[in-house]
Amino acid sequence: MKDGDVVRVALIGCKGYSQKFNLPAYQYMKNARLVAVADIDEQAAARAAAEYKIPSASGDPFSVLKDDDVDAVEIATPNFTHVELAVAAANAGKHILVQKPMATSVQECNTMIEAADRAGVMLSVFMMFRGNHLMHDIQTLLQSGVLGRISSIRARMAHGGGALASPGSWRRSRRLTGGGCLALLGVHWINLFRWYLGEIARVKAFSKTLYCDMEGDDVTGALLEFKSGQIGMLETAYCVQPGGDMLEIYGDQGELHYHKSQGVHIWAKRPFDGKIIKYLTPGEHYHLAPPVDAPGMVHGMYYTFHEEFYQAILEGKISSLGGRDGRVDVAVLEAIYRAAGSGGTETVLP
Ligand SMILES: NC(=O)c1ccc[n+]([C@@H]2O[C@H](COP(=O)([O-])OP(=O)(O)OC[C@H]3O[C@@H](n4cnc5c(N)ncnc54)[C@H](O)[C@@H]3O)[C@@H](O)[C@H]2O)c1
Repeated sequence: MKDGDVVRVALIGCKGYSQKFNLPAYQYMKNARLVAVADIDEQAAARAAAEYKIPSASGDPFSVLKDDDVDAVEIATPNFTHVELAVAAANAGKHILVQKPMATSVQECNTMIEAADRAGVMLSVFMMFRGNHLMHDIQTLLQSGVLGRISSIRARMAHGGGALASPGSWRRSRRLTGGGCLALLGVHWINLFRWYLGEIARVKAFSKTLYCDMEGDDVTGALLEFKSGQIGMLETAYCVQPGGDMLEIYGDQGELHYHKSQGVHIWAKRPFDGKIIKYLTPGEHYHLAPPVDAPGMVHGMYYTFHEEFYQAILEGKISSLGGRDGRVDVAVLEAIYRAAGSGGTETVLP
């Protein structure tokens, strides 16, 4: 790295998620600076470069990989494009941050990990909850045993993305998404479940296309068994109104409910004085109203994860561990789809 204190990044994919979250979030980062943007829609790249004063814009995502002034790429393109772009980036010696889900199959994830390891570059998958201050607080609460021994975790992520996707959109294709709404939305909670309770061993599921004109699932419900024996319940939908995202965790000493539109509710026998959650009177009902995030953290969820990724690069802590973690999420997705197909219980394959 020539410019020792900042990672020079090329963002590939400028509309959709990038336009809403990524491009603004990069403005707040200390460890990284956008030096190039690329998109197969050349005008979208040009617009992003003009709006955010980024020096280089291209309609060819592979051209930025030849640029010696680029140290890393963030891949924010449709799921089916991740593998080709990531392998090309690794071969060009660029570090890689890729949007979730890592790819459309475990096989593609393996190809990406092998390419990163061969090239000795960093590979990680952006999972938004890993940069979310509330979700970190909840993890600390669980670790400190406030809820006691956890028996089950439940979560739901749903909105009307299936109906909103335009007719030719990649979001309607099973192959191009790697499934459907489970791969697009449910993967967030799968990653968080694993973060909180460890690896998932076995799954049962129903996965259907009920109301949307799409090939992939627009509603999926899965029952998960963790290696620890604890139970997880996951629901995801692409055919409903937004606002119903929620997480519930039950233990023998208390319980926690998070609902996006209602905030956090806790009841427990012990107090917890977290960064955001201030549950100071045990035995009483606690309510933290939304929006729930650390004060002053504009776009915090979208750049905290990135800052840590780029910090690791600056410190020379190069690894593909983030990619290996993203691969396990995709293995769980595959097991859920297999279980929905077979009607039985499926093991998450290593
Ligand atoms: N919260 C989250 O973490 C979150 C939310 C939304 C999307 N995503 C992920 O971000 C990625 C992009 O999703 P989106 O909603 O922005 O999609 P999108 O279709 O809205 O935008 C994708 C962008 O990539 C460009 N593009 C397509 N193929 C390309 C290629 N081969 N090379 C370069 N550019 C290409 C398109 O022109 C477009 O600008 C997906 O992997 C998705 O799962 C993550």
